Amino acid sequence: MKIILLGPPGAGKGTQAESICERYDIPHISTGNMLREAVEAGTKLGLEAKSLMDAGILVSDDVIVGLVEERISSSDCSNGFLFDGFPRTIPQAEALIQRNIDIDAVVEIDVPDQDIIDRMSGRRMHPASGRNYHVVYNPPKIEGKDDLTGEELIQREDDKPETVKDRLRVYADQTSPLVEFYSDLSNSSSLSYLKVLGTASPQEVTNQIFINLDS
Ligand code: AP5
Repeated sequence: MKIILLGPPGAGKGTQAESICERYDIPHISTGNMLREAVEAGTKLGLEAKSLMDAGILVSDDVIVGLVEERISSSDCSNGFLFDGFPRTIPQAEALIQRNIDIDAVVEIDVPDQDIIDRMSGRRMHPASGRNYHVVYNPPKIEGKDDLTGEELIQREDDKPETVKDRLRVYADQTSPLVEFYSDLSNSSSLSYLKVLGTASPQEVTNQIFINLDS
């Protein structure tokens, strides 16, 4: 199964990715997490990406497509994968088609902007795995600690309210055209396009996604 999770920053893509990947036994490919790992490791890519990410601006299509192409050539992707945060522009989506990478389902998670701004201030992340929590809606078992490793959780640099507003603008300008792109594609191919409302509890959103993907 090859799945794309589409939705604005903070829609819950990373949160839902964990359950979907477990159910379908596919790897979670988050370009945001890959870039944050590069920043952490201090690689050339990480140094270039950091200032863009901190400002909520997209990294160039060529760099991202190269990163994804290399990742999906790994053996763990032979039965499929879940893309989280990719593609994020029309050229990135076209790059998949040019490489004959057929996607089975696009899942759009829709959340109004104001809910997103509220959510981001409470998000906490486990840097090593990318696991996400929320201090109110999805708290860790022990405050400030990752459930699986017990390691410290952090707040992301780009979760400041001003940056979140910029990221929402970037989503509206550059990523939301993918809604029409994939809706149209679903009318002329075997791709399924599903839209779920992301304002219910994380478990309810997961249930909605599973009902649709399993049908
Ligand atoms: P990326 O890391 O991909 O960020 P994003 O798409 O902006 O998404 P987020 O990770 O912020 O949110 P999410 O939808 O995963 O929500 P989450 O589950 O955490 O990208 C970061 C940057 O990298 C970009 O700005 C760009 O610079 C660069 N980049 C990445 N990919 C790129 C690409 N393809 N091209 C170019 N540049 C790229 O949930 C958010 C919070 O809400 C959490 O606290 C969670 O616990 C909580 N929550 C989740 N679900 C619910 C719910 N149902 N109810 C209440 N709270 C909930």
